[in-house]
Amino acid sequence: MNAPALPDAVLAAKPEVGRSRPHESAALHVAGAAPYIDDLPELAGTLHAALGLSPIAHGRLLAIDRAALQALPGVVEVLSAADLPGANQCGPIVHDEPILATDTVHYLGQPVFAVIARTREAARRAAAQAAKVLQLEPLPAVLKAREAHAQGLHVIPSMTLQRESAPGALDAALAAAPHRLAGQFQLGGQEQFYLEGQISYACPTENRGLRVHCSTQHPSEMQHTIAHALGWQAHQVQVECRRMGGGFGGKESQSAVFACVAAVAAVRLGRPVKLRVDRDDDFMITGRRHGFDFDYAVGHDAEGRVLAAEVTMISNAGWSADLSGPVMTRALCHFDNAYWLPEVRMHGHSARTNTQSNTAFRGFGGPQGALAIEVILDSIARRLGRDPLEVRRANFYGLGERNLTPYGQTVEDNVIAALVDQLVADSDYLARRAAVADFNAGSPVLKKGLALTPVKFGISFNVKQFNQAGALVHLYTDGSVLVNHGGTEMGQGLNTKVAQVVAEELGIAFERVRVTATDTQKVANTSATAASTGSDLNGKAAQDAARQLRERLVPIAAAQLAVDPAALRFVADAVHGGGRSLPFPALVKAAYLERVQLWSDGHYATPGLHWNRETLQGRSFYYYAYGAAVSEVLVDTLSGEHRLLRADLLHDVGRSLNPALDIGQIEGAYVQGYGWLSSEELVWHPQTGKLLTHAPSTYKIPTATDVPPVFRTRLFENANVEDSIHRSKAVGEPPLLLPFSAFLAIRDAVSAVGGHRIDPPLRAPATPEAVLDAIDAVRAAAARPA
Ligand code: MTE
Ligand code: MOS
Repeated sequence: MNAPALPDAVLAAKPEVGRSRPHESAALHVAGAAPYIDDLPELAGTLHAALGLSPIAHGRLLAIDRAALQALPGVVEVLSAADLPGANQCGPIVHDEPILATDTVHYLGQPVFAVIARTREAARRAAAQAAKVLQLEPLPAVLKAREAHAQGLHVIPSMTLQRESAPGALDAALAAAPHRLAGQFQLGGQEQFYLEGQISYACPTENRGLRVHCSTQHPSEMQHTIAHALGWQAHQVQVECRRMGGGFGGKESQSAVFACVAAVAAVRLGRPVKLRVDRDDDFMITGRRHGFDFDYAVGHDAEGRVLAAEVTMISNAGWSADLSGPVMTRALCHFDNAYWLPEVRMHGHSARTNTQSNTAFRGFGGPQGALAIEVILDSIARRLGRDPLEVRRANFYGLGERNLTPYGQTVEDNVIAALVDQLVADSDYLARRAAVADFNAGSPVLKKGLALTPVKFGISFNVKQFNQAGALVHLYTDGSVLVNHGGTEMGQGLNTKVAQVVAEELGIAFERVRVTATDTQKVANTSATAASTGSDLNGKAAQDAARQLRERLVPIAAAQLAVDPAALRFVADAVHGGGRSLPFPALVKAAYLERVQLWSDGHYATPGLHWNRETLQGRSFYYYAYGAAVSEVLVDTLSGEHRLLRADLLHDVGRSLNPALDIGQIEGAYVQGYGWLSSEELVWHPQTGKLLTHAPSTYKIPTATDVPPVFRTRLFENANVEDSIHRSKAVGEPPLLLPFSAFLAIRDAVSAVGGHRIDPPLRAPATPEAVLDAIDAVRAAAARPA
């Protein structure tokens, strides 16, 4: 049977997926009308909690003067470790993290007790008495990762990832290489600086139940950790998160201490309890991106091709394991970045220090690992007197050969060479390289620098079971659709993308679809929204649910339009067939009358993944996302300050689900990564171990004025070779690596001081102090007779 032609309007209808829709809450965001947890109306009787923090970096906890705290104005209750009815434990993988300190404090800022009071102010005032009410016996503290590593202090066993063409080949290749380079590199951590701080609001419900509004990327883990802390079953605890004012990895595991304290207090007192920490305490309590130290040795040829590489990575894990294991694994798995390393050995040590426990942050160790190889290639290029771009190209993964990663996965979707070629042309790289050299020749004080760096970033969790998602889709009889899925919205636009996917699947107007708060009572056993997999996983799960609903509507539509089911098309907000159309609401109504189930669940599990945690070998990534950036800077060699003049970004998001949101993610990630590498410096007092940079006054995140005046972002034309959601690619984290080019442009400008003969020992972040140190070192080396 030949289907009659579809109406023109239907044929002309643009697919929903791939449209640049504004973020689903954009209007609310700009109007200040999007409710965050602290904006929710408080229930009658709500109390407020604040945490009392350890005033020393390491010590034995001898006593807490509870009576003194109880006597303070407004105080209702004081909680310490002994008051927790269930497990005093919130370590996400290794159970080494008490919610409230027991007999030892491990860092300055560790929560030791909680005060519950009638007002937030009263709770905070009481908690601020910690130094007076805690009796402590100091123990020696270790603050630096290298020192901790030297003393054998680690939070997890060290790892080695190696790949050799034959036993002994690596050492032989290192020894025989025509050129050898060995050195060290150091990069700092980074505070997530989500604009909405950590917050939980726990409200008792009937019959020993609890609803917790929690700003978290991981509602299911919060549900389980709270249940353990209470000694309850999981079904007694509901965790809900409508949106976060940013998470960036900082609310993956580290929302737990706040959630657990609010929950335990609420249950104990039978009253709603809210715990919202202020910014300084958030800095003092929670961890952030791991700073890393690297020692490396590489052998290379005269073209700069790496023949063998050995690298030792030491991360500052802080006092507990948290996510340091998977972060180190990702660092090891991203040291190759976009490059084929024929012989490679990597060691990863997660050092235990008496500082905040470091955790996930956009890129999850990947940026740290990949920056190391970029710095190494930059140094190789300088020593050979070649353009770093040529050295990078010489090392790129190949197509069909030279494409095996150190962890044994073949790179099958490699577009790095074509992508870089396009960016070189679009950004006018070669002409600008010459212009920068001309400028520098005539400018003794101000120096320009230029660099191009590529990105290859693996997508998936390297823990297999995390790579699954669920969704729940309701169709109401008026044709409107309500979607729930296991992912969380933190500003990245996940809900918008999922709504687009559902609208596309049902062929209906975007406006008919509404996505609701993430809720453990709707979709169970969810994974953290992390590793950039939010739309990959939840998009597929929601698509699965919507597809089942459409399939249930097919017989109804076929009967209503009197056509063969195969002739039906769901598009342009109606179902079409036999030259006739039935509006979607009419179809749903008809289905309801026929007693069709109008809601569905959906599930998705990423195929093809396997990973051996012992050997660190397998296929840990479903696919790779690619990108490259060119950055140009101007450095003042007298003050060490710099300006970012221009950035050109070209990034691969496969077939974009929503180009506007993707470009927003790419630009945001670039600026955030630029902050990490140029201005965001963490300083702990060398004697007391106090984090001194615990507020925006001392910790400098980039602002609007740091965005380069010329900022060009383009999406690379590509489609995912894997069957991802509409052949798109994850976008959340990979572009955080694009501003490597800004850091290396600063290094390039500094190197101009020594006529590009000396490798600048520039550490990250490239603060004015770091830049001046590097300039001094270059000048001193240049002045020495050869
Ligand atoms: N974008 C905004 N606006 N806010 C955030 O907190 N987090 C980033 C990234 N982009 C974040 C963000 C991080 S760390 C991750 S892993 C991803 O978003 C998570 O969302 P996705 O998987 O849906 O991309
Ligand atoms: Mo993102 S660091 O995986 O939350």
